[in-house]
Amino acid sequence: MDHFLYRDGVLHAEDVPLPEIAAAVGTPFYCYSTATLVRHYRLFDEALSGMDHLVCYAVKAASNQAILRTLGALGAGMDVVSGGEYARAIAAGVPGERIVFSGVGKTAEEMRVALQGGIRQFNVESEPELRALSEVAAGLGKVAPITIRVNPDVDAMTHAKIATGKSENKFGIPIARARAVYAEAASLPGLEVVGIDVHIGSQLTDLAPFRAAFGKVAELTEVLRADGHDIRRLDLGGGLGIPYTRSNGAPPLPTEYGALIREVLGHLGCEIEIEPGRLIVGNAGILVSSVIYVKQGEGRDFLILDAAMNDLVRPAMYDAHHDIVPVVEPAPGTEARPYDVVGPVCETGDTFARARHLPPLAAGDLVAFRSAGAYGAVMASEYNTRPLIPEVLVNGRDFAVIRPRPGFDEMLNRDTIPEWL
Ligand code: LLP
Repeated sequence: MDHFLYRDGVLHAEDVPLPEIAAAVGTPFYCYSTATLVRHYRLFDEALSGMDHLVCYAVKAASNQAILRTLGALGAGMDVVSGGEYARAIAAGVPGERIVFSGVGKTAEEMRVALQGGIRQFNVESEPELRALSEVAAGLGKVAPITIRVNPDVDAMTHAKIATGKSENKFGIPIARARAVYAEAASLPGLEVVGIDVHIGSQLTDLAPFRAAFGKVAELTEVLRADGHDIRRLDLGGGLGIPYTRSNGAPPLPTEYGALIREVLGHLGCEIEIEPGRLIVGNAGILVSSVIYVKQGEGRDFLILDAAMNDLVRPAMYDAHHDIVPVVEPAPGTEARPYDVVGPVCETGDTFARARHLPPLAAGDLVAFRSAGAYGAVMASEYNTRPLIPEVLVNGRDFAVIRPRPGFDEMLNRDTIPEWL
């Protein structure tokens, strides 16, 4: 459930009519709902109740500090994958003890910053990283708490570009080598082994791959404990999918996911960490755009919007589907017609949807892309020298711009001209 609903024929974000925000900030813009963010965080928190746990929001899904602060204030931890994300989480007021650091290519500098600023744990993904982290930590006179991310060779049955748990993927260490790698970790001076980490992919719509992966983690926990390692924390990654269409079968609920964790891992007495991103923020955000032109093509009509692939790249990159709805609700009985929905960027890949059935629309009309909160604003670029679009956070009847639209000057002034020109 989200808080983007029609009231009196106009799409609202919570209690705010979207045309009001459009008039204030211009289009296109991203709009997030606080109530939806809070609701989704609580669903996970409650799903794990009774077990010692921490929900570490995956910052990569939507990293605006206002979003991080909203979640952090509820007690959320954060999963970061770069020095930049670490800095954002800290700036948003999340204490280092609640931040976990994931990613296959952490640099020595990133390790140093996190060790000095405070960190809950590093999720280490390779032997060379293990050695580098030990060296950096020892150099600072510190001991880095670590888990090792294991690759369980499980097919997450999701889009190939976002599956991470098969042996051909770059992530984690093969689970068959885990004992040897943990033994090495225990022998290094700058590290303290605290647990195991696994993350098999994103937008999972079935619990079976989670069950397979968590089962392997349960077995490994016993084996590593028998080897003398104090495995007390299990980081299970993120990945639970969201409904992108109303018609498509709904993915499992956080309660079912929580019950699975309890069933497969509960007896081990470990602290459970999860790293959900998409489910917390995906349906808590929309992208609002205006129609620039309706253009008649050969046997089709193009709806040319002011949003483009640089603002929301998921359709171009993953053939992702986003529901597109008119902000003004069509009168009952209005007949929908097919449109190819496109942006102004100069390549054919800048196509959001083909033959999408929408009510008749005209220049100036507003439309909203649903489920755009996760991996929307964060994956945007300035391609075609299009400024990054504003982000707006709604809370009840209030809204605030949480990232303004830069002016052209701001963009152009980042270039510097060499003196010989
Ligand atoms: N933890 C780790 C280590 C991850 O790599 C990810 C996502 C997550 C947690 C959060 O997964 P989630 O709960 O959001 O599924 N850009 C793609 C998605 C990439 C996901 C990358 N890793 C998209 O737009 O679909």
